[in-house]
Amino acid sequence: MRARLERDFERFKRELPSDIAGYVRGAYRIDLTARYLGRTLPHPIGKGSGQLSLSLDQLETDRAAGLAFVVLKTVIAEDPAGERSMGAWAVHETRMKVERRRSASDKEGWTVTWKGRGWDRSFDEYLALVRAAADCTRSGEIVAVPSVKYHLPRLGEPFRTEEYRYTTERLSQAWGSEELPLEKDFSPTLAGNELAEERNQILRWLREVPGQVRAAAGSTPVRLALKLMNARFDDAFQLEMLKAAGSADALVVFNRLWDPGQGVAFGGFDLSERNLRVLQAARLDGIRTPPLTGSGNVSSGRLILDYARLGCESVQLHTFFQLPLSEYPGTDGSRSQRALHALLFHPIDGLVAGMLDLEADGLLERRSGELRFLDLQESAENKNNHESTKKNESTKKKKQKHN
Ligand SMILES: Cc1cc2nc3c(=O)[nH]c(=O)nc-3n(C[C@H](O)[C@H](O)[C@H](O)COP(=O)(O)O)c2cc1C
Repeated sequence: MRARLERDFERFKRELPSDIAGYVRGAYRIDLTARYLGRTLPHPIGKGSGQLSLSLDQLETDRAAGLAFVVLKTVIAEDPAGERSMGAWAVHETRMKVERRRSASDKEGWTVTWKGRGWDRSFDEYLALVRAAADCTRSGEIVAVPSVKYHLPRLGEPFRTEEYRYTTERLSQAWGSEELPLEKDFSPTLAGNELAEERNQILRWLREVPGQVRAAAGSTPVRLALKLMNARFDDAFQLEMLKAAGSADALVVFNRLWDPGQGVAFGGFDLSERNLRVLQAARLDGIRTPPLTGSGNVSSGRLILDYARLGCESVQLHTFFQLPLSEYPGTDGSRSQRALHALLFHPIDGLVAGMLDLEADGLLERRSGELRFLDLQESAENKNNHESTKKNESTKKKKQKHN
């Protein structure tokens, strides 16, 4: 299988097979089936919300490349009069800088420096994109989901329910008669805003926003993912956030870090290390969460596995779809296609190689002859439950000794 992987890596540099997951299953007996927001996906790799999911052309390119899902750029909610409480987030900014970034742990990765924020065109234009996304999703070839930033009140203030109602109703009409899948973004720029200085305020948003969105949707069902930010507090507060967000249907963990000095959000290995550390702590503490999707410096199959083994059923990337072409081993096709090639087939760092290694190390077993991506979360859960029980037992023993 290793020799086959080397050969596939070489021959797919120009073009990937049309049914990537089917090919991997046939060739390696690896079932890459994954999930995002309750939907079954052929494999776990999707695109996070941002500048790379603003247009129909981008969506079409991603469908043709074989991405499993795409989250559209975040639109800023509005009320029937066109008022937007989060209007400061609708910034028009076209310049993006893709830069190398060394982490505190001395690993070199990439980050995109950008001063913009949410969707900066009209709501009607966004709704046209949502209609196209719904059509793509119905075709079964890719799942494409809208993303919104709704009003976030200060403590003691009520939520602007009109803004929630109007925005959700219009999105739902554009989507069609089926359940509306939706992400609610708590962006990293929010972390740098005075609104996010108060911990109880953030926890209230996480507790109450799902109810607000569901109430706004009325009789049309909504399936809601909360995309959690990295707040400017410590890891323990990230755990508080995970606990507070328990009523969402899924959580995206976690958006970029905030650099208060430069006034920009950033990623790279600082981001993945923080995210994975918090997810590990959540598992050890036995915190029960809605289904998770990983985000943050996913730049190799190995990193997909790191997120998966801490409970993530899929991953959504942004930066890795934006690197200079010379950074991808693939030689032809769109960036989405070249990224998939590296993430899946790299003979050392790819997802297939990583799953074969886990099998060799006795950490993942074949069932009915197949290795299954979704078994990684379950085995992680069992192991973590076990570790969390062990941790609780040892704390109990320590306490008894102390008494
Ligand atoms: C230029 C840029 C714009 C982004 N815009 C949004 C956005 O509008 N909404 C959102 O939820 N996330 C946004 N993100 C965050 C990404 O979706 C992703 O979660 C984050 O960058 C971490 O993943 P990465 O390290 O693979 O880039 C943006 C990221 C970048 C780099």
